[in-house]
Amino acid sequence: METAELIWHNGEFVAWKDAKVHVLTHGLHYGTGVFEGIRCYETERGPAVFRHREHLERLEKSAELYYMELPYTAAELREATHELIRRNGLRACYIRPLGFRGYGEMGLYAQSAPIEVIVAVWPWGAYLGEDGKEHGIRTKVSSWRAISGDSLIPHAKASGQYLNSILAKTESANAGYDEAILLDQHGCVSEGSGENVFVVRDGTIFTPGHASAILDGITRASVIQIARDLGYRVEERDIARSELYLADEVFLTGTAAELVPVNSIDDHELGEPGEVTRVIQAKFDDALHGRAEEYLEWLDPVEVPAGADEPSKVSS
Ligand SMILES: Cc1ncc(COP(=O)(O)O)c(C=O)c1O
Repeated sequence: METAELIWHNGEFVAWKDAKVHVLTHGLHYGTGVFEGIRCYETERGPAVFRHREHLERLEKSAELYYMELPYTAAELREATHELIRRNGLRACYIRPLGFRGYGEMGLYAQSAPIEVIVAVWPWGAYLGEDGKEHGIRTKVSSWRAISGDSLIPHAKASGQYLNSILAKTESANAGYDEAILLDQHGCVSEGSGENVFVVRDGTIFTPGHASAILDGITRASVIQIARDLGYRVEERDIARSELYLADEVFLTGTAAELVPVNSIDDHELGEPGEVTRVIQAKFDDALHGRAEEYLEWLDPVEVPAGADEPSKVSS
């Protein structure tokens, strides 16, 4: 991976190589962590974090759902992130805040193990590749079902839950596909291993609703709003597996992946990205890069000192 110079760890800016934890860190053993994936984009007005507030609110919510009290407020984490981006001299980057139960007590009710928080930033290109964004990706319906709300909390972005995504992603990658699509416990379409799913048929856009086992994606919400503003009808409802095959267009949305067209599902070809996908993808890209006036409020500008306009980054 590409690296940066500094990581924010419990209120301190530490060198990337020194950002370490004890091997008996609780979260390492039991997955007791909550995190976010956020992106900062270069815009005409300088670097800006996309939907920063919504991401930090979801982080707080995820922590609360797992009975973890973060020792920093959203405002403090926002300020720390801005400062980290400045100190690392980055203009565009991926942002990874993580709150986790640290070292101090083992066992499953380890209330005295402290909650630690880190924020890391680094340059990270398109998660499913530039070619995927342009021409679409090949997907496979996973043999693993999405975690159900009966066992965990799909709407929380919690570290341990990602073992489910990792099983699905690994299975699809080993079989030669770019991404997995998981069904829920009822056999309806849930989401990708790290993205929400949209299906287009006869001009209407469908996506699973909140009663499904999905993460309430911030890209999903943004794309629904953009699509409706563009005049498309968007329906949140259950989607059958076969509707993926019968769709005119399918696309995935997520912070890391952005908006990625799907060109095949289980080897059923959908072909090159269709018009609805293209139109929404272009508008979303404008929103991310500050080119869409109507969505400027989604951007949280990072103040950078005058003269710091040359991109600088450290690579490993
Ligand atoms: C399982 C899962 N679903 C959906 C998403 C998309 O969420 P967002 O658009 O907020 O990044 C992600 C990415 O965080 C994810 O990990």
